[in-house]
Amino acid sequence: MIFFRQFLPTRAGWLLFLLTSISCQIYAEERIHLLQEYQNDVSLVEPIPLTVSVDLEKARLGKLLFEDKRISKDGKKACVECHLSDKGGADNERLSNAINDKPRSTNTPTIFNVGLVPMLGWTGAGNSLESVTEAIIKSKQGLATDWPELINKLNAMPAYRNAFENIYHQAIKPDHVKEVMAEYMRSLITPNARFDKYLRGQESAISVDEMRGYQLFKSYGCASCHQGINLGGNMTSPFGVFGNYMQNTGNETQADLGLFNKTKRPEDQYIFRVPGLRNIELTAPYFHDGSVTTLDEAIDVMGRYMLGREIPERDIRLIKQFLETLTGELNGESL
Ligand code: HEC
Ligand code: HEC
Repeated sequence: MIFFRQFLPTRAGWLLFLLTSISCQIYAEERIHLLQEYQNDVSLVEPIPLTVSVDLEKARLGKLLFEDKRISKDGKKACVECHLSDKGGADNERLSNAINDKPRSTNTPTIFNVGLVPMLGWTGAGNSLESVTEAIIKSKQGLATDWPELINKLNAMPAYRNAFENIYHQAIKPDHVKEVMAEYMRSLITPNARFDKYLRGQESAISVDEMRGYQLFKSYGCASCHQGINLGGNMTSPFGVFGNYMQNTGNETQADLGLFNKTKRPEDQYIFRVPGLRNIELTAPYFHDGSVTTLDEAIDVMGRYMLGREIPERDIRLIKQFLETLTGELNGESL
């Protein structure tokens, strides 16, 4: 009898048992409730397709160019030095150094999934991968070269001359260079994020807290701007709507004027593209000026300046957990 007593639950033990089963019940009900929202989720965000059809020969040649320093003015800078595959397609610098060893005026955005959205660059003024590639090839902040110089260089390198010849059967033209590089970038999709698996119907792919985070992402209104396949990349907005982030943090720069720098229209001051949020946990620091180092801070700033709300710490944590489900795979490997 004494022996058995040791195994009988104490009153505290019973209470614990009871509470655990009640909370399991609540947990299960919440999961069902959240799953009922599944249908809405499908229309708000689409999963990244598992494959994308690209011309492999062009994409392969584009990759060679993307990774080749020799194509820049002084032979010292390649696209891949700022857009690194092991750093979420960006470089984790606040501002990366351009070819002239001076910091660029904006933070490096990811090169992943750029083929899936209509607006490119921080201001959204870029409207095709080809035109953005041309701008970067010529920009002093990019490769600082020009077409005659670049085409001469490529013609002088038999491997490139032959590769272009095999694809286009004519002398190398700027359009060919742009096309192969754009084709390579279109191939850089990152499917199979846990959130995409959830969108495809695999409910266990994300946890209840991550689902709660997604609910908050919608209910606070983040999704009114960060929407579509990349959760961004298809609209612009002032930064911010409630107060001006750059003016409030001091040291305003020319780049902070956003789309205005391109159009010179007063109404375009401080206008930026709503950036995509895929693989966002990998691409700190955040914002066009790289002014914020953590996701928690970025979410807090978004709450204050875009939604006019102070988001409590607990909700910030849940939203962050949701954002972390957006990390996908590149060529079948987790990023
Ligand atoms: C010195 C660093 C650096 C180098 C080198 C570089 N980039 Fe970028 N890239 C950036 C920055 C910074 C931006 C954002 C520019 C802006 O909009 O303010 C950017 C933006 C882009 C974008 C738009 C991404 C988006 O989210 O819309 C594409 C595409 C791109 N770069 C491709 C290239 C290609 C192709 C090359 C080589 C020809 C290249 N980059 C070289 C830093 C770099
Ligand atoms: C009114 C539109 C709008 C709303 C609402 C909004 N955002 Fe943003 N978001 C933007 C814009 C525009 C930027 C780019 C700001 C910049 O750097 O110039 C941005 C940037 C971000 C970034 C940094 C991205 C990067 O690559 O650096 C994160 C993270 C983010 N938003 C998350 C959120 C979350 C979470 C919410 C909800 C709490 C939210 N946003 C609400 C428009 C919005």
